[in-house]
Amino acid sequence: MTRPPAKSGSPTKPAKNEAQTVAGRLLAWYDAHARVLPWRAPPGEYADPYAVWLSEIMLQQTTVAAVGPYFRAFLERWPSVGSLAAAPLDDVMRQWAGLGYYSRARNLHACAQVVAGEHGGRFPDTEEGLRSLPGIGPYTAAAIAAIAFGRRATVVDGNVERVVSRLFSIETPLPRAKPDIRAKAETLTPDLRAGDFAQAMMDLGATVCTPKRPSCNRCPIVSFCSGREAGIEETLPRRMARKERPVRRGACFVLTRSDGAMLLRKRPAKGLLGGMMEVPTTPWEEAEIDEAAISLHAPAAAKWQRVPGLVEHTFTHFHLVLTIFVAQANAREAAKAEGVWIAEEDVGGEALPSVMRKVVALARPDAGPLFRQP
Ligand code: ADE
Repeated sequence: MTRPPAKSGSPTKPAKNEAQTVAGRLLAWYDAHARVLPWRAPPGEYADPYAVWLSEIMLQQTTVAAVGPYFRAFLERWPSVGSLAAAPLDDVMRQWAGLGYYSRARNLHACAQVVAGEHGGRFPDTEEGLRSLPGIGPYTAAAIAAIAFGRRATVVDGNVERVVSRLFSIETPLPRAKPDIRAKAETLTPDLRAGDFAQAMMDLGATVCTPKRPSCNRCPIVSFCSGREAGIEETLPRRMARKERPVRRGACFVLTRSDGAMLLRKRPAKGLLGGMMEVPTTPWEEAEIDEAAISLHAPAAAKWQRVPGLVEHTFTHFHLVLTIFVAQANAREAAKAEGVWIAEEDVGGEALPSVMRKVVALARPDAGPLFRQP
């Protein structure tokens, strides 16, 4: 592979005209190679603020591929911010089920209500105005301001961090490098087409400047890349060693009635998976669970049978390992059990988070495709 030609000037401090060329080259590359994504306007045009907002909230912590079907379903069901604001929160949570990080869905609904109720159904068109809304932090405010309103705003997500740390050879580990990365990214942001520039950076990070084996031979700004010049591109960005996630354990109880209905309950509104549905479960703790704890939390007296295998799920702050028990409830026990009985065919439409879909899939291998999740 041939090396790019040496650059003029300092690699860690591009001069203003060089920065403009980085933006210019990226925009030209974006015009030719932009990914076609359902929330995007063609290069050079502004996208609908509602669609941009919705997609940006969904894309936090979630991949472009996973978001596509959810984005389409939301837009079809609630084509405007007003219609989303008018929807019951439970419907929004149900539609969100499977995307994870459920506080995003609650904030999404709260934000729609503020925009509909206090802003006449129009999103504010500045970063500052956007940041005053529920669930909109600095990243999302910058993304909407740039992509939907053409404001000069600098959008820094994980992809952009990687591109910038390589371009400027920033060896300070993340998260300490964040302010430096942001400052460098700001020097690159053009006055015009800041939204396309932001999305060009994201696309470059997703398709060319990838975490492993970046395709530098296809990169439109390789001649400016100081990390590549030093031969350290693949080692950037550096990161502080992550602490291992603790493991928590628990047991879940999948109770069915003779007509096939399943017992579910609603989690408390606050906290992890707040307001979502679940099958009854013991608390999730780091200590090994014992038999006594299991029978204490079972929702009914029944012949509980342990299902072979385990359900594992990783949350931000811990890894969860669940043992699953199944039983049939007789009519008397079914009437006493706390929770709601959901008809078999309706279980998939409930606001069950991914971890609970895995639980149902293990307990009921015959359940529908909704439950055949990774
Ligand atoms: N990730 C977050 N926002 C994005 C966007 N607008 N385009 C592509 N990837 C993204």
